[in-house]
Amino acid sequence: NARGKGGSVMKTIVKNGKIVSPSETYEADLCIENGVISCIGTNLEQKFASDEVQVIDAAGKYVLPGGVDVHTHMDLDVGFSRAVDDFYDGTVAAACGGTTSIVDHMAFGPAGCNLHHQLNEYHRLADDKAVIDYGFHGTVQHVNDEILDELESMVEDGVPSVKVYLTYGFKINDDGVLEVLKRMKELNGITAFHCENHDVVEHLKKVYSESGKTAPIYHAKSRPNIAEAEAVRRVLYLAKLAGDAPVYIVHLSCKESLEAVEEARKARQKNIFVETCTQYLTMTEEKYKDEDGLKYIMSPPLRTDADREALWKGLENGEIQIVATDHCPFNYGIEKQMGKDDFTKCPNGAPGVEERMILLFSEGVMKNRISLNRFVEVACTNPAKVYGLYPKKGILEPGADADLIILDPEREQTLTHANMHGAVDYTVYEGVPVKGYIDLVMQRGNVIAKENRFTGARGAGEFIHRKTRDLKDESSCLR
Ligand code: URP
Ligand code: ZN
Ligand code: ZN
Repeated sequence: NARGKGGSVMKTIVKNGKIVSPSETYEADLCIENGVISCIGTNLEQKFASDEVQVIDAAGKYVLPGGVDVHTHMDLDVGFSRAVDDFYDGTVAAACGGTTSIVDHMAFGPAGCNLHHQLNEYHRLADDKAVIDYGFHGTVQHVNDEILDELESMVEDGVPSVKVYLTYGFKINDDGVLEVLKRMKELNGITAFHCENHDVVEHLKKVYSESGKTAPIYHAKSRPNIAEAEAVRRVLYLAKLAGDAPVYIVHLSCKESLEAVEEARKARQKNIFVETCTQYLTMTEEKYKDEDGLKYIMSPPLRTDADREALWKGLENGEIQIVATDHCPFNYGIEKQMGKDDFTKCPNGAPGVEERMILLFSEGVMKNRISLNRFVEVACTNPAKVYGLYPKKGILEPGADADLIILDPEREQTLTHANMHGAVDYTVYEGVPVKGYIDLVMQRGNVIAKENRFTGARGAGEFIHRKTRDLKDESSCLR
């Protein structure tokens, strides 16, 4: 640690900013020592000798916790292709966009591999590359006694969450879902689900393909709202059968799925957590009709305006707790072109990790859809709470890591790929005007991005050995 002339540890003071938490916004100074917030108060600068302090003036700006994106797919191997952001490019993009922690979903490994096979692989992919702090979610690709036993050592190794896919090559059937839910509940962990009815989707893909309906819009038509909502309902029933086992719905995209969640909660089912993603709040399936419709091929697909409105309402009223990205980029000029004659051949996924924070601020807070405090809650605090990163991450309080953003609400910009940092060749938000600009991003007291320039270091991100959640905390995520 850098020291002043008197030998004491150098401090950084972020002064005069408006500090934002899930419950309040207040003007104060924030002091950082050894990468951690040591105190929050007024006139802090006067308390220390000038050679011991570095001062950052945040007057007129918001000081927010660094973003926590709990749904990314860096370097995702999908067999026939690979997401183009590795853990370096993808986390540089995240850093410049104000996200200081990610929890990445591991890819499927070779058939029959155990959970640690992929955990070891992901440490190899991320450890010398990530520039921000990171954790991993396990991926269950088959269920047997060995896997159910291994879940315990995954938790011990800092991975208290797993994802189960109800579609794709390694989809899990209902008996396996029940077993994983029960075991993860015993371990105080949480099971995340990609919810789509596999047979319905495969049937519709075949119907459209065979009748020559191969344009990108048929990607959306082959994955209708009800195919998602049926799977959400099924998973919620299975979680109920497993004794209200903790269940987390990833990338919820439509109103029928939200209705299923609302009904389950009304029936007093506990431990239900819901995520949506920036793209479902901001775009509709009309994008598939554009000439570059392949850019938006992701699963679930973009929906309608009615769905978007329902999601904003759910975010505002607390039914949805988290906004993530499902960042999974493939180049439009290369990998996405595999789908040019047939949408079923296009790798699924789109970039978004760099755009999430500012877009949600602009579309949510500046357009009065959610409050500033709710923005912090859904983009920083709740993801940290649900996935065991809190209170080190997701909040600005003494004792927390000094992961923060200074955001200027007065400055306007237009999103464009030319100003972005990932490896992919496009943004789905090209030309979108936003109100707000991220001046500076700090991780553990180090400035890692300034004025849209990356100033951090390759490999400086640390693995977050996540803890299990105390289920009693659940109510704090819901309002
Ligand atoms: O289309 C998507 N979302 N690709 C990434 C994998 C997933 O389903 O989350
Ligand atoms: Zn998914
Ligand atoms: Zn995903």
